[in-house]
Amino acid sequence: MTLLALAVAGRGLVDPDEPAVYADDEAVIRGRAAFETMRVYGGAPFRLQSHLDRLAASCERISVAPPDAEEARSLAALALERADAPDAVLRFYRTSGRELMGSPGLMVLVSSLPDHLEALRLRGVRLVALLGVRAEVPWLLGGVKSTSYAVNMAAEAEARKRGADDAVFVTEDELVLEGPVTNIWWRRGSTLFTPSLDLGILAGVTRDALLDLAPTHGFDVREGRFPLAELKGAEEVFTSSSVRELMPVVELDRRPIPLGEAARVLQSALRTAALG
Ligand SMILES: Cc1ncc(COP(=O)(O)O)c(C=O)c1O
Repeated sequence: MTLLALAVAGRGLVDPDEPAVYADDEAVIRGRAAFETMRVYGGAPFRLQSHLDRLAASCERISVAPPDAEEARSLAALALERADAPDAVLRFYRTSGRELMGSPGLMVLVSSLPDHLEALRLRGVRLVALLGVRAEVPWLLGGVKSTSYAVNMAAEAEARKRGADDAVFVTEDELVLEGPVTNIWWRRGSTLFTPSLDLGILAGVTRDALLDLAPTHGFDVREGRFPLAELKGAEEVFTSSSVRELMPVVELDRRPIPLGEAARVLQSALRTAALG
């Protein structure tokens, strides 16, 4: 992704090649910051308010004051206008501020889309199940989009080391959770399954959009606590996230997973909803 535009609270538009964070911002030295990532369709961010609500909830969990929503919206508008890219990625970073003396900061980034996504959607992703530790341990910040994502990135790297593209986290007793940056779904007949939020997973905005869209496209949805074996025996598996949208899964722990219609139908429904 290339950074196309940057807006910073108190400064407005900033040259993307200029530094925008202090060396002693706790975001840098302790990873205490919250963020949001969303996709921009036709110049407009999809479900912006849901992302701002989730940003405020993440801030609360890491004891950082949430940003003013109007300020966040107007910085986003500035950056989007400067980027002038109909399809892009919009990110908010709420940093906790400088150690001891700081007040929280807010940065808004507009970047180009990663260029490999459509090729990956055509090919399908290979997953490996890895241990995730989040369920019911609130201080491990499950369900929080904090910038302490090194663990998630390490899980993606481990998946690649094992010959896959991505990971799906499971609990110690093999209940399915989520991916490092995605929610997970699977299908049996016309029923879609996805882990419930009480497992400590992130309340994906795309997940929420799919919960709305699925019934009008002939699928009922069951949220709950499901063993990995159900995922392995599914008729179809896919992931969801703002940037990657829906990605069909073709392999799990080196075993093939059949392709199905739900991912294709809902991917196109999501695009239609986003552009409408
Ligand atoms: C851990 C995790 N789960 C799920 C998601 C998907 O959420 P959304 O659909 O809001 O992008 C993300 C997104 O980055 C994530 O980091």
